[in-house]
Amino acid sequence: MPNFSYFPLLLLLPLLFSTFHADIAQDLVTETCKKCAESDPNLSYNFCLTSLQAVNRSQCADLPGLGLMSIKLTKYNVTNTRYYVKKLLKNTKSDPFIRACLNDCFDLYSGAIPTLKQAMKDFKSKHYEDANIEVSSVIDAATTCEDGFKEREGAVSPLTKRNNDTFQLSAIVLAVINLLH
Ligand SMILES: *[C@@H]1O[C@H](CO)[C@@H](O)[C@H](O)[C@H]1NC(C)=O
Ligand SMILES: *[C@@H]1O[C@H](CO)[C@@H](O)[C@H](O)[C@H]1NC(C)=O
Ligand SMILES: *[C@@H]1O[C@H](CO)[C@@H](O)[C@H](O)[C@H]1NC(C)=O
Ligand SMILES: *[C@@H]1O[C@H](CO)[C@@H](O)[C@H](O)[C@H]1NC(C)=O
Repeated sequence: MPNFSYFPLLLLLPLLFSTFHADIAQDLVTETCKKCAESDPNLSYNFCLTSLQAVNRSQCADLPGLGLMSIKLTKYNVTNTRYYVKKLLKNTKSDPFIRACLNDCFDLYSGAIPTLKQAMKDFKSKHYEDANIEVSSVIDAATTCEDGFKEREGAVSPLTKRNNDTFQLSAIVLAVINLLH
């Protein structure tokens, strides 16, 4: 058995602190996701947990940090989807209905990017009501995009998962904003 009794305690302190810090962040993520799922039946607890656990823990040690990370995640998702729709539009030459829907989605997602940038600014400066309105409009954009495909029977949206991801991420942001109010 090695004897650790002379191990300088000071060397251990940063380690203890960082473990402690990670636990707090972990608890906050779990707590926040629980509250989010309770506040909105359309919001998946598991989706929330998976999304927020993927982000850098040191950046979401408190609720405002977690909110900002959620907005960034949403912006990342939206930017990604806009790019994906652009690619689809290059390929889909066949079906004019699907093409028209994709064009609408492209406009909706293009508009959502500056909206989320503004939401980030408003969130940082604690203008939570403005941020709320902006992020709500992103939910509307994802919903409107998905609903477009439903206007023709039998049409299949190629964006269902992505629209749902945007919806879920934005709903997390709204739930965090509500907790901060
Ligand atoms: C849940 O989703 C359904 C269908 O999209 C919608 O009609 C309903 O308003 C949503 N509920 C909430 C609380 O957002
Ligand atoms: C997490 O964030 C901290 C502080 O912003 C940074 O120093 C660290 O490199 C980041 N770690 C990862 C894995 O991104
Ligand atoms: C959107 O975010 C979700 C959750 O973080 C992730 O699983 C998904 O891969 C992201 N999608 C895109 C297109 O970035
Ligand atoms: C949206 O995603 C969540 C989490 O992945 C899932 O539980 C839910 O069923 C999905 N909703 C739709 C309409 O696809």
